[in-house]
Amino acid sequence: IDIKSLRGATNGVITIDPGYKNTGSCESAITFLDGEKGILRYRGYSIEELAEKADFLEVAYALIFGDLPTKEQLDKFHADIKTKSVVDDDIKKILDAFPKTAHPMGILSSLTSALTAFNPSSVNVDSEEEMYNAIVKIMAKFPVLVAWTMRKQKGLPLNYGSKSLGYVENIMKMMFEEPNEDYVMNPIIKDALDKLLILHADHEQNCSTSTVRIVGSSHAGLFASLSAGISALWGPLHGGANQAVLEMLEAIKADGGDTKKYMAKAKDKSDPFRLMGFGHRVYKNFDPRAKIIKKAADEVLKDLGIEDPILDIARGLEQEALNDPYFVDRKLYPNVDFYSGIIYRAMNIPVEMFTVMFAMGRLPGWIAQWKEMRLGKEPIGRPRQIYTGENLRPFKTIDNR
Ligand code: ACO
Repeated sequence: IDIKSLRGATNGVITIDPGYKNTGSCESAITFLDGEKGILRYRGYSIEELAEKADFLEVAYALIFGDLPTKEQLDKFHADIKTKSVVDDDIKKILDAFPKTAHPMGILSSLTSALTAFNPSSVNVDSEEEMYNAIVKIMAKFPVLVAWTMRKQKGLPLNYGSKSLGYVENIMKMMFEEPNEDYVMNPIIKDALDKLLILHADHEQNCSTSTVRIVGSSHAGLFASLSAGISALWGPLHGGANQAVLEMLEAIKADGGDTKKYMAKAKDKSDPFRLMGFGHRVYKNFDPRAKIIKKAADEVLKDLGIEDPILDIARGLEQEALNDPYFVDRKLYPNVDFYSGIIYRAMNIPVEMFTVMFAMGRLPGWIAQWKEMRLGKEPIGRPRQIYTGENLRPFKTIDNR
């Protein structure tokens, strides 16, 4: 079928597909995913190779601009980003107004949207040059907001990165540098963070990415579209699962480590409890990201000399699920979020920040998908429905109801 010939067809049969289980929303040249075989590629490069050999900014460039950068292209992109990292001082006032208990995802979504007010030229972007400027701005300012949400929670003063550091090093510096100390970069943590960000960088038309595309399809600005994506990511069925996994593992530990009890709860249909970090809409044999992250979790904890009993509980749950007909029949395997929290915890990242770290990784994917949608002149996203409400009935005045 020539898909383009179907554009504009609005009459006739309406397909109903709740959750869009079998509905494609767009054509895309960014990420290839084969859920049966467990294959994930960005711009044709395998996720395994990228996680092993690339750094996050290179992968971000490839996602956004279509191919891995030359050294000159990467240097220019990074240099442009470094010139745009300063955020308006009034953003600090907005941050200040949040209660200390505010969830960092709520803060991140609000501040990302608020950036629009201080960068009006990033809203109506049509040319590639205008898009490039908006992209550079958000790539520069987003890590600052990410770090500041954590510093706010910890009551630390706000800071900036350093011109001499790499993109990921600056994320770490801004998050972990305490006042009056020279932050010492731990290369094990830097490598692990690079890997985690790369593995989260894109995942075709997932809930948050589809949100970014659909909000952007109304020609709302990039930052507003991203802010909506952050809200979508927040939910525990999506990116919020990484926080939920760790809280679940902690609860199992506090309850004596009885994994069998929680397996039974997950299978009990009268109990809303689900095994967080298990199952995926598209992966039905394994999630290739989970495989890499599980290995990384082992290595990072070993390298840092950390013995975390939570890792044993996670391994125990995985082992039981692999041998349990409920999970096997429904093809439920650990997803990207199952082991990532264990690494974040080893890095001293607070559990409420886990989904923020996911958002940091997903940023280039969201940008790439928004750019593809805008350059492809996609029509406004506007699903149909099947109406199941009342037929026409007469209006009754309030005293007759
Ligand atoms: N624990 C127990 N049972 C589960 C789980 C789970 N984690 N996930 C799915 N099931 C069961 C369902 O109850 C359903 O059983 P049934 O056929 O007897 O009714 C069957 O498996 C299919 O599940 P659906 O919810 O229909 O699958 P769907 O594709 O809609 O949902 C999802 C996928 C949301 C990821 C789901 O597996 C889930 O809730 N997982 C836990 C949350 C999670 O880890 N989310 C992160 C996903 S990865 C990401 O977004 C980055």
